[in-house]
Amino acid sequence: MFPRHSHAPSNGHAYGSSNTFSISPHRFQPRTRPALRWRRQLFVKIGVIALFSSIILLLIFPSFRDILLPSLGLGFILRDDPLLNTVKHYDLSDTQGTARGWERGERILFCVPLRDAEVHLPMFFGHMRNFTYPHHLIDLAFLVSDSKDQTLAKLKENLEALQNDPDDKIPFGEISLIEKDFGQKVKQDVENRHGFAAQASRRKTMAQARNWLLSAALRPYHTWVYWRDIDVETAPATILEDLMRHNKDVIVPNVWRPLPDWLGGEQPYDLNSWQESETALALADTLDEDAVIVEGYAEYATWRPHLAYLRDPYGDPDVEMEIDGVGGVSILAKAKVFRAGVHFPAFSFEKHAETEGFGKMAKRMRFSVVGLPHYTIWHLYEPSADDLKHMERMEEERKSKEAAEKAEKERQAKLMENYDDPKAQWEKDKQQIENAALEAKKAEENKDKNLVGGAAGPHAHAGEGEAQGKSGNQPAKVGGNV
Ligand SMILES: *[C@@H]1O[C@H](CO)[C@@H](O)[C@H](O)[C@H]1NC(C)=O
Repeated sequence: MFPRHSHAPSNGHAYGSSNTFSISPHRFQPRTRPALRWRRQLFVKIGVIALFSSIILLLIFPSFRDILLPSLGLGFILRDDPLLNTVKHYDLSDTQGTARGWERGERILFCVPLRDAEVHLPMFFGHMRNFTYPHHLIDLAFLVSDSKDQTLAKLKENLEALQNDPDDKIPFGEISLIEKDFGQKVKQDVENRHGFAAQASRRKTMAQARNWLLSAALRPYHTWVYWRDIDVETAPATILEDLMRHNKDVIVPNVWRPLPDWLGGEQPYDLNSWQESETALALADTLDEDAVIVEGYAEYATWRPHLAYLRDPYGDPDVEMEIDGVGGVSILAKAKVFRAGVHFPAFSFEKHAETEGFGKMAKRMRFSVVGLPHYTIWHLYEPSADDLKHMERMEEERKSKEAAEKAEKERQAKLMENYDDPKAQWEKDKQQIENAALEAKKAEENKDKNLVGGAAGPHAHAGEGEAQGKSGNQPAKVGGNV
């Protein structure tokens, strides 16, 4: 029996012992380790260079991302990149609208049509800041048309301040400023705006403006559309939630306006929110195809129940009333209403145009259209030409009354001055009476003398006359004093 290694020497090699064999690992290992490390470092270097060049390539050729990222399983990064992803996916069943949209992140498109509205902007932006609906869920869209004042410039200033507010609850979502003239010729003062003759064409132009604004600004992610006039003076900051809670397709509050005391303190303002009546339907049948009925004018007596007149200041603000025509001061509508094709007719739709036609069309398409008779917002009071004349007259009356009062006061003051010291005056008067009496006595004596002597006749008469004059005057004054 040989040990296994004992035949090794038979090779002719003098390994001698197992020692020689164990040398080789010792010899190789120090060499292997640096080699491996070097190779690993090389790989890392190549990796880093590849990464950097990919990043640079990505920066230079953004379209590279489309190929590279999905191949690395990072396709999800691309989905939100507006620069790259030209194909977008929206599921509009996500934007149906619910009663508590603010909790579900439902976005509102807030639409404001403007025309020569510079003076109302500060008040409007006061309201904007106060809205309690999460601002980041509200996108703003303004349409500035046919304006001769600084509406657009002032609007930009106000928006910049709003969006740069340090309080991160103030800035809104996306803002669209849209400019488009419609050649609106009716002057913007109250008299012209509300005159009967101008109504139909004015309403048709307003309808176009609204449609242009909405079609330019509505995005697939909007669930609600809110229409608001610039000249609302007072409205709850919670109005968006208050209206949304009713979960209706179209909903409006009641709109009144404050009046000066001499005009009764307050008045219904928006007469465009109403329920249809038999009388009005019969009237509509007699009218020309293109005719447009406008509410609130004697020319069309429709006898419709108006939302405005049904207000009870102490009524439950949540009471709902089905309506057919809607006013445009403050409308909250689900975006799906517009997506379904309802719009603001710039023509006669069932003898109505603009917001009233919109209400009728929504109704016709079986959407719910509701008004809140006891939930009131307040439109700014702008005096009409008649009111202005009346106010001018009142101002004149006030001035002449003031002048008369002032004159009367001065007269009284003078009188008081004269009788400042009634006692002294009385003493003086008493003295004068006594003097007069004395003189009268003297004159009497002189008369007697004259009868006897007769020389100083004229003198004595003069004296008597004096005395009589004085004593004659005194009682009146004394009497007056007492
Ligand atoms: C906004 O809120 C403040 C503080 O409550 C209030 O003083 C101000 O009148 C509000 N602005 C408007 C326009 O309602």
